[in-house]
Amino acid sequence: MERYVIRGGNPLRGTVEISGAKNAAVAIIPAAILVRGVCRLENLPQISDTDTLLRVLTYMGAVVRTLNPSTVEIDCTNVHIDSLPEDIWALTRRIRASYYLIGAMLGRFGAACSTMPGGCNFGVRPIDQHIKGLTALGADVRVEGGFIQARAKSGRLKGAKIYLDKVSVGATVQVMIAAATAEGNTVIENVAREPHIVDLANFLNSMGADVRGAGTDVIKIRGKASLHGGSYALIPDQIEAGTYMAAVAAAGGSVKIANVIPKHLDCISSKLREMNVEIEEGDDFVLVSREGDLRHTNVKTMPYPGFPTDMQPQIGAVLCCAAGLSVVTEGVWDNRYKYIEELRKMGAQAQVDGRTAFIQGVDRLSGATVRACDLRAGAAVVIAGLAAEGTTRVEDIQYIERGYQDIVGKLRALGADIRCVDEPAEPPVVPSWIAG
Ligand code: EPZ
Repeated sequence: MERYVIRGGNPLRGTVEISGAKNAAVAIIPAAILVRGVCRLENLPQISDTDTLLRVLTYMGAVVRTLNPSTVEIDCTNVHIDSLPEDIWALTRRIRASYYLIGAMLGRFGAACSTMPGGCNFGVRPIDQHIKGLTALGADVRVEGGFIQARAKSGRLKGAKIYLDKVSVGATVQVMIAAATAEGNTVIENVAREPHIVDLANFLNSMGADVRGAGTDVIKIRGKASLHGGSYALIPDQIEAGTYMAAVAAAGGSVKIANVIPKHLDCISSKLREMNVEIEEGDDFVLVSREGDLRHTNVKTMPYPGFPTDMQPQIGAVLCCAAGLSVVTEGVWDNRYKYIEELRKMGAQAQVDGRTAFIQGVDRLSGATVRACDLRAGAAVVIAGLAAEGTTRVEDIQYIERGYQDIVGKLRALGADIRCVDEPAEPPVVPSWIAG
């Protein structure tokens, strides 16, 4: 079984380059289905989620050319949804973003079929707002037998005014993609404002769409009959950058985090400064340093521009090493604290009550064998391992590799003692206190 083996205690020093944004990539790749031509995507992260989606498009008849590790050309001129091979569904079941295929297929063909999405399991993840938006655009949507099927009742979607009941990244992406080629105008209110929403809008517009207002709470779209090819470079990943900022906070040291948009990191930088972490901002980098003791603080996750829920596990791991009591409140998901149980194996003092975690900082965590419960929970235990005394083994690393490009290589370049090894499960080592 492949796992990460981390010997904690090394401060991090040097420069890390941030890759393209995962949650932008997994929206933009399905959106390419709308384009009758070639989309050239640059700064694409090399992670398993993008690989999975590119394979799905290939099964649909797209031609994908890899020009270099972070640049692909996708030609969707001849994509189709008739008699798709069974193998495609094993891929769509794996990831959350596969449901964006519905909006893209509807926008291109007036009909759509995909499996219910997979993705990180932290509580109920309904899709009622996706269905509300697609129905408003004139689609008949059915969920049965583990599949989502949809058909534009008049053969082509029609623009509509849609008010999302909940701020939802997924539903916002879904409706943007579907409305881009609908007949007439669409107004979507109460939308998500994350950087990756703006990135999707910019991608669609570079392919000839007319999407305005992304980044505010109202998006207006003038539907186009079809979209043409073009080139687009994705934004850097806000959450990957935040993860490395949290790693420096936990392990100590001083690191230049390069290829970022500092504005996207404001909420994370502000919170880390409260914890006695120094952060200097450049045009396209942040310099993160932590030499003194960490201070405890409180965190409440909210939709952007609030503190991102996708940084909650990582900051939770840092707070385990901050003297005093910290209170973390999860404002987006019902149950995003599975990682706490793993950190408790490392000596963390933390209790969870519903959407709130109470974390009492300890002097030092101790290495243990832990697992990555999901993508960001996996990042949290890696961060804890970097700060812990002794050796930490992280299992189920496939979750981490869904969203972090070369995390082992990037951390090793910063001086971390981390390796990816393929070894049989180790017998548990009883701590010396009992064994004598
Ligand atoms: C996206 O998930 C991200 N995933 C998640 O990141 C992220 O945690 C989340 O947005 C919030 O930022 C991708 O972009 C692939 P939502 P998504 O729809 O779209 C409720 C990561 O770590 N809701 O914004 O599924 C929902 O239950 C991943 O990279 C409905 O009620 O999240 C939640 O409480 C994990 N009905 C809230 O809205 C719906 O139809 C926000 O969910 C849809 C959502």
